[in-house]
Amino acid sequence: MEIIANEQQLSQKVEEIAAKINKDYQGKEPVIVGILKGSIVFYADLIRKLTLDCELDFMAASSYGSSTVSSGVITIKKDLSLDVTGKHVLVVEDILDTGNTLYLLKEHILQKGAASVKLCTLFDKPARRVRPVQADYAGFVIEDLFIVGYGLDCNEKYRNLPYVAVLNAEPSNF
Ligand code: IMP
Ligand code: MG
Repeated sequence: MEIIANEQQLSQKVEEIAAKINKDYQGKEPVIVGILKGSIVFYADLIRKLTLDCELDFMAASSYGSSTVSSGVITIKKDLSLDVTGKHVLVVEDILDTGNTLYLLKEHILQKGAASVKLCTLFDKPARRVRPVQADYAGFVIEDLFIVGYGLDCNEKYRNLPYVAVLNAEPSNF
């Protein structure tokens, strides 16, 4: 597997993103929402670089349909535990692909009365976008490649790899 981000590159990127978040949210106490399961490794590294007072929460969403073909129909599998009314919410995701997931989640959190919702993703594949979603913080902008590791999976495998690699066998329309 071809490595596209090694441990050192990942940690440097996390530092850069955290520095921006620390600056932008100065004086605020955001709720940092990790999207399960893919964001867990990025999330754990990112929050430890935040110098802000913050609260932590998680959501899970899944795409309806087979594991390899995204239907675009997203269901919320786990909702927020905290009340985010009037709060500034920062959503942390592993990868922004078609945008279906983050489009729905952002709308959902805004409907709950959040004061603001910003999106932070470690990887961004703009070429695959079908929804008008833009990340406020995007780590690595990549081509239409299927990647695994550092939380990202293929059929639940490879999440534990400490680096991110391209999975060549995966069809582009997964
Ligand atoms: P979207 O709704 O199409 O933006 O997809 C977001 C979700 O698809 C991510 O949270 C990942 O779970 C999954 N995904 C998209 N691209 C990849 C990839 O290259 N590797 C692993 N998972 C991916
Ligand atoms: Mg995911």
